[in-house]
Amino acid sequence: MEKAKEKGVKKDISMMEKIISLTKQRGFIFPSSEIYGGFAATYDFGPLGFLLKKNIERVWRRWNIESREDMVEIEGAIFMHPKVWEASGHIGGFSDLLVEDVVTHKRYRADHLIEEAKIMDNAGALSPEEVDAVIQEHKIKSPDGNALSTAKKFNLLVKTHLGPVEDESTVAYLKGESCQNIYVDWKSVLETTRRKLPFGIAQIGKAFRNEITVKNFIFRTREFEQMDIQYFCRPDEADSWYEYWKKNRHDFYVNALGFSENHIHWRQHDPDERAFYAKDAWDVELHFAEMGFKEVEGVHHRGNYDLTQHQKFSGTDLSYFDDKTGERFLPYIVECSAGFNRIFLATLFEFYREEGERKFLALPPRLAPYKAAIFPLLANKPQLVEKAKSIYEILREGAKDIDGFMLAWDDRGNIGKRYYSQDEIGTPYCVTVDFDTLGEGEAANKDTVTVRDRDTGTQERIAIDKLGEFLHGKIYH
Ligand code: GAP
Repeated sequence: MEKAKEKGVKKDISMMEKIISLTKQRGFIFPSSEIYGGFAATYDFGPLGFLLKKNIERVWRRWNIESREDMVEIEGAIFMHPKVWEASGHIGGFSDLLVEDVVTHKRYRADHLIEEAKIMDNAGALSPEEVDAVIQEHKIKSPDGNALSTAKKFNLLVKTHLGPVEDESTVAYLKGESCQNIYVDWKSVLETTRRKLPFGIAQIGKAFRNEITVKNFIFRTREFEQMDIQYFCRPDEADSWYEYWKKNRHDFYVNALGFSENHIHWRQHDPDERAFYAKDAWDVELHFAEMGFKEVEGVHHRGNYDLTQHQKFSGTDLSYFDDKTGERFLPYIVECSAGFNRIFLATLFEFYREEGERKFLALPPRLAPYKAAIFPLLANKPQLVEKAKSIYEILREGAKDIDGFMLAWDDRGNIGKRYYSQDEIGTPYCVTVDFDTLGEGEAANKDTVTVRDRDTGTQERIAIDKLGEFLHGKIYH
């Protein structure tokens, strides 16, 4: 009975706790500066997290850039001219509303407190006065049970000084959103690539926001990465490109990353929630177990606001000349801006499985950190170890020009533990060299290995000289 009860207790552990524990124990994600006690919700990707990250980026790049002829990619600097942030409106208006616990002086995002009190969804559109009224009317207290101050605007840009002098003339900002490089580089990309509209510029880049509250592991942090597509088109074609990209983003999550259709949700921004220049804005939300559906990507119809602003503030002509129609104009932009860290976390939520005591990450093979693990059946039999090592080396050599084809070697513990350990990190195939392989058992199995499938647990015997082809076929089908 006690055992059953213990099992019952285990079930109450939230999915987020399971994911955090798995990612820490298996080296996907570590708290940054952990030996100093960690630092303000910053995280490092460990060896397995790094591999998963690169695989997600590879899939994103393949889908959005390499498989198309109308996309190019850039990588912009983190520091940009401070005027960029004036032009973009971030210095004047990039803020959240903050309220303070009048006793502890801890600060909170007002919209989060209102949403958590279940008074309304999307309280981010409220003005300071409206927030104060809601807090008063519903008698909302701080999480410590104390009264709250009135709401104040809090700018989210991370400010620093560059150079040896620290005064107003040396103020610089870390990128508040990654896409600004794309807008300010648009003319250079246009001229150097000699592209014609429509075409897109993509970027994977860091963004920094001095978030008032950080929470839910890597879901909301102050340093994160964005995967952006900024698609430039004629104003009269912008509506149809906007619809095209919405459909494309749905297909990306389902067909490229392997998310279930049921775990994707679209949310349209209310008119008072979206930027004044935006014609329309939708969020792609993915399912995070007990947290429900949460935003991972914004698809925004931005008009020509960004180019208009940068043209005005820089004094540089950013217009496009259409040589077919003889018109000169500022292109419209459709933006698809995804948060990499959120996609990474959603991927772990999506593919985490428990079957009895067995835990596994049912990652699509192209995302798995290791594509296969190679084992000798017994670690204390030199002939088995030698044969398994030679197969491991042959597979590695055969895949040396294939990006991301990583193999694991494991000869610790017994075979069951090795399966458990590889399942937990999502390795789709385990290859075992046994006495049959050496010709010391079933004659027909000489020079074959067993290949175990992570998801079904089934095993089949594959000839060593067909193994590379077999794995490639399964992984990159
Ligand atoms: N250029 C448009 C832009 O930055 P956004 O909706 O503010 O739009 C895009 O951000 C995506 O970046 C979001 O959908 C989210 O996935 C991610 N993101 C935003 N703030 C974040 C934070 N503090 N931590 C992690 N990801 C964040």
